[in-house]
Amino acid sequence: MYLIPCLFFFISSALQLAVSGGDFIPDPGCPTPNPRLFAASLAIQALLHSITDDPKGFTANWYGPDVCSYKGIVCAPPPDDPDSTTVAGIDLNHANIAGTLPEELGLLTDLAIFHLNSNRFTGTVPEGFSDMKLLYEFDISNNLFSGYFPEVVLRIPSLKYLDLRFNTFVGKIPAAVFDLKLDAFFFNNNGFTFSLPSSLGNSSVSVLVAANVAGIGSLPPDIGRLSGTLTEIVLLNSGLSGVLPAEIGQLTELTVLDVSFNNLTGTLPESIGNLARLEQLNVGHNRLSGDIPESICLLPNLQNFTYSDNYFCSAPDSCDDLRNSDGADNCIPCEDNQRSDEECRPFCPEESDDCSDD
Ligand SMILES: *[C@@H]1O[C@H](CO)[C@@H](O)[C@H](O)[C@H]1NC(C)=O
Ligand SMILES: *[C@@H]1O[C@H](CO)[C@@H](O)[C@H](O)[C@H]1NC(C)=O
Ligand SMILES: *[C@@H]1O[C@H](CO)[C@@H](O)[C@H](O)[C@H]1NC(C)=O
Repeated sequence: MYLIPCLFFFISSALQLAVSGGDFIPDPGCPTPNPRLFAASLAIQALLHSITDDPKGFTANWYGPDVCSYKGIVCAPPPDDPDSTTVAGIDLNHANIAGTLPEELGLLTDLAIFHLNSNRFTGTVPEGFSDMKLLYEFDISNNLFSGYFPEVVLRIPSLKYLDLRFNTFVGKIPAAVFDLKLDAFFFNNNGFTFSLPSSLGNSSVSVLVAANVAGIGSLPPDIGRLSGTLTEIVLLNSGLSGVLPAEIGQLTELTVLDVSFNNLTGTLPESIGNLARLEQLNVGHNRLSGDIPESICLLPNLQNFTYSDNYFCSAPDSCDDLRNSDGADNCIPCEDNQRSDEECRPFCPEESDDCSDD
C-alpha cells in the first residue's frame, strides 16, 4: 500500500511548497498529484485556521484531501490546462463566519471568483490577492473589514466586479481605481472621505453608488465622459457639495439619478432635460435654488421626481402632472407646504402673492 507514505509525501511537499514557494518535485513512487490542488489545499487550510467562529458549521466538511468537495469551494479546469482541475471559486456568502484573511490565500493563483458577502471578517485584504491573475469578481461586502482602501485590488489585473460595501474602511479612495476596467464598483456604507477625482471619467462602470459614505466632495465635470456606459448614479447622503455640473446632461443612458440628502447648491442644470431615458430623479434635501427647468418635467420616461427640501423658486405645472412628484419645503408660490418668507427671501426675488386660479 502506498497510501500512508504518499499521504505523508503529499503533506511534506505541500509544506515545502508553502515554505520555499518553489517547484513541486513528484516522487516516482506515488501517483502524480495535481500541484495546483496541493497549493489550493494549503491556502484553504490556512483560511480554516484563520476562522474564529463558524456558527452555522459552514466549514464542517473542510477536511481530507479532496478540497473540491468542501462546501463553498468550486473547482473547474484552469484555462491553460483543460484536462486538469483547480480551485476556481470560493463562495462563503451569508455564512456569518468570523475570522481574517490569511496571506496564504495568494496561493489560489487560479481563483476567478471570491465571494464573502455577509460574514464577520475583520482586518484587511492580504497582498497575495495580486497574484490572482484570473480573479474577476471580488466581493467582501457586509463584513467588518477596516483600515484604508485595500490598495492590493488595484493590482488584480482581471478585476471586473469590486464590491466593498458595508464595511468600515476609512480614508481616500485612490484615483487609480477609476482607471481599472471595472463593470461595477460599490463602496457605499463605509467611512471613506475623499474628493471624486477627474479620473472618474476614465471609468467603465455602468452603476456608480457612493451612498452613505463620509464625504465625496463635488461631482467633477468629467462625469460626462461616462456617457456611453453609466445607467445609474446613486450618491445619496454622501456629503456631496458644490454644484451639479451641466455635463451630467451628456449621460444619455442614465435611468436613475439620486443625489438626495447632500449639500448641493446652485441650480438644476437645464441639460438634465436631455436625459430621455431618465425614470427616477431625486435631488431632494439639498440647498438647490432657482427655477426647475420645464424640460425636466417633460422627460418622456420620468416616473418619479423628488425635489423637496430645497430653495426652488418655481416649478412648472408639468411637474405636478408627473405620476409621482414631491416638491414640498421649497419656495414655490401658491404650492402647499412651502418654506417661510424669511427662509426664502435670500434665494428668491419677492413674489406677488396672487394665487388666484388661472
Ligand atoms: C485618467 O484620467 C486622468 C484625468 O482625467 C488622465 O490624466 C489620465 O491620463 C487617465 N488615465 C488613464 C489610464 O486613462
Ligand atoms: C452642509 O454644509 C454645512 C456647512 O457648510 C455643514 O454644517 C453641514 O454639516 C453639511 N451637511 C451635510 C449633509 O453634509
Ligand atoms: C419616489 O421617490 C422617492 C424618493 O426616492 C421615494 O421615497 C418614493 O417611494 C418614490 N415613489 C414611488 C411611487 O416610487
